[in-house]
Amino acid sequence: MTRHRIFVPRDAAALALGSDEVERAIIAAARTLGLDIEIVRTGSRGLFWLEPMIEVETPAGRIAYGPVKPEDVEPLFAAGWLDGGAHPLRLGSPEDIPFLKRQTRFTFARCGIVDRLSLADYRAHGGLSGLERALSLGPAAIIEEVTKSGLRGRGGAGFPTGIKWKTTADARAAQKYIVCNADEGDSGTYADRMIMEGDPFCLIEGMTIAGIAVGATKGFVYIRSEYPHAIEVFGRALKIARDGRVLGSRVVGSAHDFDIEIRVGAGAYVCGEETALLDSLEGKRGQVRAKPPLPAHKGAFGRPTVVNNVISLASVPVILADGADAYRDVGFGRSRGTMPIQLAGNVKYRGLFETGFGLTLGEIVDDIGGGTASGRPVRAVQVGGPLGAYFPRSYFDTPFDYEAFAAKNGLIGHAGVTVFDDTVDMARMARFAMEFCSIESCGKCTPCRIGSTRGVEVIDKIVRGERRAENLKLLEELCETMRFGSLCALGGFVPFPVTSALTHFPEDFGGVPVSGAA
Ligand SMILES: Cc1cc2nc3c(=O)[nH]c(=O)nc-3n(C[C@H](O)[C@H](O)[C@H](O)COP(=O)(O)O)c2cc1C
Ligand code: SF4
Repeated sequence: MTRHRIFVPRDAAALALGSDEVERAIIAAARTLGLDIEIVRTGSRGLFWLEPMIEVETPAGRIAYGPVKPEDVEPLFAAGWLDGGAHPLRLGSPEDIPFLKRQTRFTFARCGIVDRLSLADYRAHGGLSGLERALSLGPAAIIEEVTKSGLRGRGGAGFPTGIKWKTTADARAAQKYIVCNADEGDSGTYADRMIMEGDPFCLIEGMTIAGIAVGATKGFVYIRSEYPHAIEVFGRALKIARDGRVLGSRVVGSAHDFDIEIRVGAGAYVCGEETALLDSLEGKRGQVRAKPPLPAHKGAFGRPTVVNNVISLASVPVILADGADAYRDVGFGRSRGTMPIQLAGNVKYRGLFETGFGLTLGEIVDDIGGGTASGRPVRAVQVGGPLGAYFPRSYFDTPFDYEAFAAKNGLIGHAGVTVFDDTVDMARMARFAMEFCSIESCGKCTPCRIGSTRGVEVIDKIVRGERRAENLKLLEELCETMRFGSLCALGGFVPFPVTSALTHFPEDFGGVPVSGAA
C-alpha cells in the first residue's frame, strides 16, 4: 500500500487556529478510508492567514491546502488531495504562493518544511554543514567570516555580531558563556518563537558555532514563560541533539565541548534588555546593570558572555555553510543579509516575510501586507515594537535599513511592523507608550521610573486641553530628559513613539505639533 506523507504545522499560531484538531480529523478519515498515511509535524511557513496550511507530498512535489478546518478534511480526501486534487482550498505549490515566492529565505529556509524534531531531516536539508565548516576553519576564522558577512544583532540594537564575538574571544577566563536572548518582548514579533518551534536545531547549531568561536562550553537560552510551545519543542530538540552527539562533550566528533540549558523568564519586557536578562537568568530580580563592564567582559555569573538574539544566532549556520559573501551580497547600505519582517496589527496578509534589507516601508505594508485587514486606509505604522516610532504614509518611501530609519527618528528593532488604519487615535497610542514604560520600568533610574508616570499625566492634560502650549513644552522637555538621561533604551527610546505621534498626527492632540519634536 502506498504511504502518503502529510505535513501539518505545529507552530503555536497554527495550533491556535486548530492544527491539532485538523490532524485528528485527518487520522480519523484516513482510517475510515483504509489509507496508509504518515503525518509530519512541521513549523509554520509564516503565512498566518492560511493557517492551518496543510501540505501533501505528491509525485509533482508538495501541494498546499489552506486554511483547513476539521470539517474540510473529508471533502479534501474526496477531492483526491493526496494526489494534489482540485479543491477550493488548494493553494498549489507553496513555493509559488506570491508571499513566499518573493522572499529570500536564509534563516527560515527550513521552517515549515522539515520535521522540526528530526535530526536526520535537518541534515538532509543542509543542517550542520555550517558547523562542519566552522570546525574546519577554527575560532579566529569563524569570527572573521561572521564579521565579513556584515551580520548585525537582530534583537534591536544592530550591533555587529563579529565584533561582539571577538571581544568575548579576546577576554581571558576559564569559563565563558553564550546567552541566547529569546525573550522576544516586542509587540507584534514572533520570529524567535517560530525558529525555536519550527527549526530548533538551527539555533542549536548557531549557538554551538558561537561557543567554538569564543571558547565557551556552555550556553543558555532565556525564553519567556509565555512561550510554552517553544520551551517544550526546544527542550526536546536539546535532548535529541545530545543523543545525536551534536551537543555535549566532543560535539560532532570534534575536540570541542558545548551544551545548552533553557532558563525560563517570567515575561517582563525589561528582561529582554541584555543585562536585566543576565540578572534574571542568575535567579535575581531582572534589573538593568550599568555598563561598563560589558557582558562580553563580565556577563553571566561574572564571566565573559556573548548575548545574542535568536535570529542573530540562527543566521550563523547559513553564513558559515554558504560563505560570508553570499550573505553580505544581499541587503542595503550597511544593513547586510536578510531580515525576517513580521507583519502584525491591522494588515491583510499577516505573517513572516524574510527578505534582504532595502524594501521600502510602503512596499512592505501596501504590497506585501496588502494594506489593512479592515479595508480602511493605512494611517500609521509602528516599526520596532513598543519603543518604535509611528510613521505616517508620507514616510512610506523609507528603505528598510537601520540607518535610514534612524535618520527619520525611527528604528527597525526586531523588525515588527504593526499597521493601524484611520480609526486609530494617536494620542491614545502616545499615552499607551508612556503607560507601558511606567508598568515595565525596572525602576533603577529616575527619568524612566518617574518620567513615564509624569508623561501619562501630561498627555492626559494635553488631550483635555489643559494649558496646552505649556504642557506640550513640558512633554517635549520630559521626552528629552528621558531620551538622554535614561540608563537603558526602555526609558531612552519611549520618546520615539510619543514624539512621532505628536509630530505626524498633531490633530489627534487637538492642535499643531510641538516644536523640535522627533
Ligand atoms: C527594554 C529592552 C528590551 C529588549 N528586549 C529584547 C528582546 O526581547 N530580545 C532581544 O534579542 N533583544 C532585546 N533587547 C536588546 C538586548 O539588550 C541586546 O541588545 C540583544 O539581546 C543583543 O543581541 P543581538 O546583538 O544579537 O541583537 C532589548 C533591549 C531593551 C533596552
Ligand atoms: S531606563 Fe527604565 S528600565 Fe532602563 S534602567 Fe532606567 S528605570 Fe530601568
